[in-house]
Amino acid sequence: MVPKIEKLAEALMMPGKGILAADESTGTMVKRLSSINLPDNEENERRYRNLLFTTPQIEEYLSGVILYDATIHRAADSGLAFPLLLESKGIMPGIKVDLGLQPLPNHPEEDVSHGLDTLRVRLKEYHELGARFTKWRSVLRISDDTPSALALHKNADVLAHYAAIVQEAHMVPIVEPEVLFDEEYTLEKHTLARSAEVLEDTLSSLFEALEFYKVFLPGLILKTSMALPGRESGKDLDPIAIAKETVRVLKKIVPKETAGIVFLSGGQTPIEATENLNAIAQFDDMPWPVTFSYSRAIEEPVLEAWNGDDVNIAKAQAVLQKRLALNVAARNGKYSKDME
Ligand code: 13P
Repeated sequence: MVPKIEKLAEALMMPGKGILAADESTGTMVKRLSSINLPDNEENERRYRNLLFTTPQIEEYLSGVILYDATIHRAADSGLAFPLLLESKGIMPGIKVDLGLQPLPNHPEEDVSHGLDTLRVRLKEYHELGARFTKWRSVLRISDDTPSALALHKNADVLAHYAAIVQEAHMVPIVEPEVLFDEEYTLEKHTLARSAEVLEDTLSSLFEALEFYKVFLPGLILKTSMALPGRESGKDLDPIAIAKETVRVLKKIVPKETAGIVFLSGGQTPIEATENLNAIAQFDDMPWPVTFSYSRAIEEPVLEAWNGDDVNIAKAQAVLQKRLALNVAARNGKYSKDME
């Protein structure tokens, strides 16, 4: 019997766990591997994923892992395909399915994500390979005149269209409209208030589009940015203020039927991302479960510890276990900086 998507969504949002976004595209992996002076090739990428997914006890912290097309087709050193390896640990494999960004005409600096044309065919294959949930990312930029009405509309539409197709294929869609905070448009104008305003516009366009497409909210997970002052704005990240604004906007816009909310780290340092999640989780009257779905804030220190050398595998895996444990503490609202 095919499990109901609301059951799959509930399993992804189960108490005490989070989702690892190990779905860096090939282009992003080039950057990640070159940061440790390792040539980007299929084998180095595979070795890195092997390190992540064979880390002992990750299933205590993770309900799901998001993979990328290249990774879902590859196997661990043992020969077991990565999605099957995750499944054998009780971790649900997921897959990123947008095909990246394309420029919006007449709107310099703005993009829309694409990939709908081939989505149904790809979902069929990914489902056969074991994926039970998916992710689609769009990007919104903050400046004086962005995000434009067109960027808000087009990205909300593509995310909602994608979500409806994924539910049709009996998988859980994660919709991720990422509002960037580490761009050059920073100035003093990229304040926490401006960030919260853009987050609100983004999410209200998205939930309006989801309604048009009749997306079933108990089978949908929102992956969102936090409301954050721009990285270059000169303002420190104050977890309490960030949490207050983030939760205020989410409560105003996100219907309570939504299966859950997960956060991206978006260029926050690992400690910032954990501290801010902890402050958010301390609001006890949220109608949906919340947790992490970080990539950089979990993986960066792991990559650094590994440094491309297999003698460092155990050390790197210990770093991964620690970051996951700290983020689980944070999603439970029980993290403090002295646990670092
Ligand atoms: P970061 O946590 O590095 O922002 O990545 C999350 C993600 O899935 C981006 O699409």
